This record gives sequence, C-alpha cells and structure tokens, in this order.
Amino acid sequence: MDHWISQFDRALRAVAGVADGARPSPAGTKPEAELTESERAHAAALMRVNHVGEICAQALYQGQALTARDAHTRATLEQAAREEEDHLAWSAQRIRELGGRPSLLNPLWYAGALAIGTLAGALGDRWNLAFLAETERQVEEHLTGHLGELPPGDERTRAVVSAMRSDEAKHRATALALGAAELALPAKAAMRLASKVMTTVAYRV
Ligand SMILES: [Fe+2]
Ligand SMILES: [Fe+2]
Repeated sequence: MDHWISQFDRALRAVAGVADGARPSPAGTKPEAELTESERAHAAALMRVNHVGEICAQALYQGQALTARDAHTRATLEQAAREEEDHLAWSAQRIRELGGRPSLLNPLWYAGALAIGTLAGALGDRWNLAFLAETERQVEEHLTGHLGELPPGDERTRAVVSAMRSDEAKHRATALALGAAELALPAKAAMRLASKVMTTVAYRV
C-alpha cells in the first residue's frame, strides 16, 4: 500500500513539474546566451517537448517497475527512474529560464505513458526491457536532433540536452545488459509514430 501511495505521490509531482533532481542541472554556471525572441521561443518549445518526454519516462518506468517480476530488474528500473527525475527537474528549470511553459497536456501524456508502461510490463521482463531499450534509443536520437536545432550559442540548454542524452544511452545499455529482447520492426515503427504525435503536439501545446 505504501508503495502505491509513494508512486502516486511521484506521479502527482511529475505532472505538476515540481520534481526535484538529486543532481544539479548540467547548465551549472554557464552564462545565459543573448538569444533573439524567436530563438528563445524555439529553444523553450524544444525543452517543452523534452519535458513531456521526461514526464512519459516517469510514467513508463513507474508502470514497468510496478509490473517487473525480477527484483534486480525492478531495482535497476528504479535507479534509472531516479535519473529521469533529474531530467524532469532540469528541463522544467530550463523552460522557466527561457520564459516558456510546460505542456498543458501533461496529465494526459502521463496517463497514456503509464498505460503503455504497464502493458509492456505485463508482457514479462524481457519485453518490458525491450520496450525500454527501444524507447531510450529513440529518445537519444531525438535529443541528437535537438542539439542540431538549438541555437549554437545557447550553452545552458545544450548542456542539459547533452547530459540527458548520455544518461539515456546508459539506460539503453543497462536494459540490453539485463536481457532485453529485440522488438519487431512494426512495434518500433508504432513507437516512432506515437512519439511523432507527442513531439508535434507538445511543441505547440
Ligand atoms: Fe530522460
Ligand atoms: Fe532514460
């Protein structure tokens, strides 16, 4: 019961964007860049997309940890989830600094991802991990795309995105090491489509 209450509490904090990270933001003391109005708005919108991605990561990991059968797998998922909480805090902070706002649809993103995570978890650990590894791979690619799109001088945002990307690569390697299966191509394509919908909508709303 306590476990469920603490999961619920984490969910509320995630959706409200008030998660606090254990590690300080990689933006550190890097100076704020001189950005034009449109550069700033673009960077804020990209960080809103990333923040939604991290809301989804919270929900996915929570759903998966709830259903994971093996204790070691569960502990590893929980460790990764804590790092995703840092990402959530860092991206929320960066959105605020850029004068943007988080997605209005966060409760919806969270609920959708929790359902998907729970479903993946129900398929068993090997598939749970397969789904996780593929998610992390797609997020990594996506963050690489953002590094190409962000204003070159925006060092604070870039530091956050780069640090998240290296954590996601680590999460993927962990999932593979724990024995992730390889998803079939149609499953990967469906995930790509879902993430395309999310990123397109979250850029605007
Ligand atoms: Fe993340
Ligand atoms: Fe991750």
